[in-house]
Amino acid sequence: MTDYANILVEQRGAVTLVTLNRPQSLNALNSDVLADLSSAFGKYDKDDSQRCLVLTGSGEKAFAAGADIKQMADMAAADFFLQDFFAGWQTGVVATRKPWIAAVNGFALGGGCELAMMADFIYAADTAKFGQPEIKLGVAPGMGGSQRLTRAIGKAKAMEMCLTGRMMDAAEAERSGLVAKVVPLASLLEETLKTAELIASMPPMAAMVNKEMVNAAFETNLAQGILTERRLFQILTATEDKAEGMVAFIEKRPGVWKGR
Ligand code: CAA
Repeated sequence: MTDYANILVEQRGAVTLVTLNRPQSLNALNSDVLADLSSAFGKYDKDDSQRCLVLTGSGEKAFAAGADIKQMADMAAADFFLQDFFAGWQTGVVATRKPWIAAVNGFALGGGCELAMMADFIYAADTAKFGQPEIKLGVAPGMGGSQRLTRAIGKAKAMEMCLTGRMMDAAEAERSGLVAKVVPLASLLEETLKTAELIASMPPMAAMVNKEMVNAAFETNLAQGILTERRLFQILTATEDKAEGMVAFIEKRPGVWKGR
């Protein structure tokens, strides 16, 4: 367990569990939270013993209710611009090369929804609520929401959500393709950790490559994505884990992974 002021970090075997821990502000995301998360995600990415990460929110009410409105209220446009406000989410969180899952246990609004969408996929509690309500504050999404939500659920619903600021419940989020699975709140963490452990048991380089490939579908055009896939596949065939994985299959036994 590493000490941070705004998050809890715990290693459970090969899975790192990170909990946003500002329940009094519904886990609102300020610069200190970003600094803590960047540190924890950076350590996770470098630690060979850790093979999947789960991010959740403390308390039963919120994953994160957004960027911290109290921090932003007094900031001038020049402050946002000169600090390149929100840019750190890309370098500190999105740049993580190893897999991670968001376990959304309640409100995921504004920056909270955007943070969840930075994950490789989302598991949601049946009580979860997603939304991009920034318009009600006279602003708009700033951490990727207008882009990732639109790619995840399509223009019609994303536009409606951004323009009205309405919330989407967990069932609609699953129907719309925003979340991979909805489970009762009481079993959210257990179910997410179970999936994280399964991912952690896979050959780790293959996990990183699979992540990079699927993200290429999200971020590039089809021809570029297919080329990326083919080249990454070819690189993986040079790994010891590829040799082991195929022999283990033929010998009808589980693979023993070296991670290279
Ligand atoms: N920033 C700072 N503090 C927040 C917060 C946020 N985003 N969301 C909630 N809080 C604080 C509240 O101010 C309150 O603090 P006090 O007790 O000191 O007053 C505490 O958390 C509990 O919140 P509520 O009393 O409002 O709880 P509720 O159950 O009545 O309502 C809610 C819950 C509907 C989620 C409501 O808190 C809410 O609407 N929050 C703001 C949601 C929002 O607008 N998010 C977008 C932020 S902008 C953004 O994220 C920009 C971007 O794109 C990156």
